[in-house]
Amino acid sequence: MLTDDFGREVTGVRVSLTDRCNFDCVYCHNEGLGDTRGPMDPQDDEMDTDDVVRFLEVAAEFGVDAVKFTGGEPMLRQDLEEIIARTPARMEVSLTTNGTFLPDRADALVDAGLERVNVSQDALDPADFAEITKSGAYERVLEGVDAALAAGLDPVKLNMVVFEHTAGYVPEMVDHVAENDGLQLQLIEYMPELTGKPEWNVDIQRVHDWLAERAAEIEHREMHDRKRYWVGGGPDSSGGMVEIVDPVENPTFCANCHRVRVTHEGYLKGCLNRNDDLRAMGEMTKPEIREAFRETVTNRVPYYGEYMVRNGDDEWEVNEKYIDEYAEV
Ligand code: 5AD
Repeated sequence: MLTDDFGREVTGVRVSLTDRCNFDCVYCHNEGLGDTRGPMDPQDDEMDTDDVVRFLEVAAEFGVDAVKFTGGEPMLRQDLEEIIARTPARMEVSLTTNGTFLPDRADALVDAGLERVNVSQDALDPADFAEITKSGAYERVLEGVDAALAAGLDPVKLNMVVFEHTAGYVPEMVDHVAENDGLQLQLIEYMPELTGKPEWNVDIQRVHDWLAERAAEIEHREMHDRKRYWVGGGPDSSGGMVEIVDPVENPTFCANCHRVRVTHEGYLKGCLNRNDDLRAMGEMTKPEIREAFRETVTNRVPYYGEYMVRNGDDEWEVNEKYIDEYAEV
């Protein structure tokens, strides 16, 4: 296992397979790379199947035991099943998807070795859903969630970004997972760092407080600094689990970050919020990828608390140590 200078082991990788997407979610940070709009056809800049597998084999050598495939919309890749099938066996495989392609492919993905799925579902109403995602695929997404459950993916986690447009629907979504076996909810604090709309922020502490009232039981997982709320269901359900992911301006969250990212173009990326630490894998051989992976890990620093620090006015600013580095790119 590789460990950075801050004692953080790298145990997981998050691999973007494309930045194409059939949605255009208003909040999307696109893995820190900006706009997702553009052609839907396969693009030359994407890693090919072998590139992805070569990287995963190296990551596995370093003891990385989990991979999450993401996008854009990763299911726009027709080779997703092949990539999953060729992922080293020691790695747990999960996927973050908008769900629209799951009705046709959930079974094949599970056969290939997919173990977990997160489906982005920010609303329980077709009109609100359309407004947030700029798509009319609401029913299709619900079918996708059902297909994932039917294929044996349990739990299916629903991702809901909590921001101005969705905050009012949190109670409904919580009831929804409480009442439907197999579903869990991940409430994700809206990250304005990469989208430039801070006015959409909502105070995530209010969501914590509300859930604490609603929950039958609360669990605090120190390792990820995440709280889990167990909410009771109705007579036909054993209840559900709701987790809050709140990374914004949260040094504890960054101190517990154990993942390295890979962009769809095959750049190693040590932090979602940084684009000044990218390392291209391009046509690299395995020994070269090993070296690049080591360098990426060595250069990883916690974003909040190290790369960003609070100044005298209690505002976050780039730590002087990193300013020169930042200017180079
Ligand atoms: N803030 C929080 N989460 C985001 N996601 C994308 N953009 C943002 C953002 N600005 C997350 C959502 C989505 C996943 C693909 O990425 O959880 O489900």
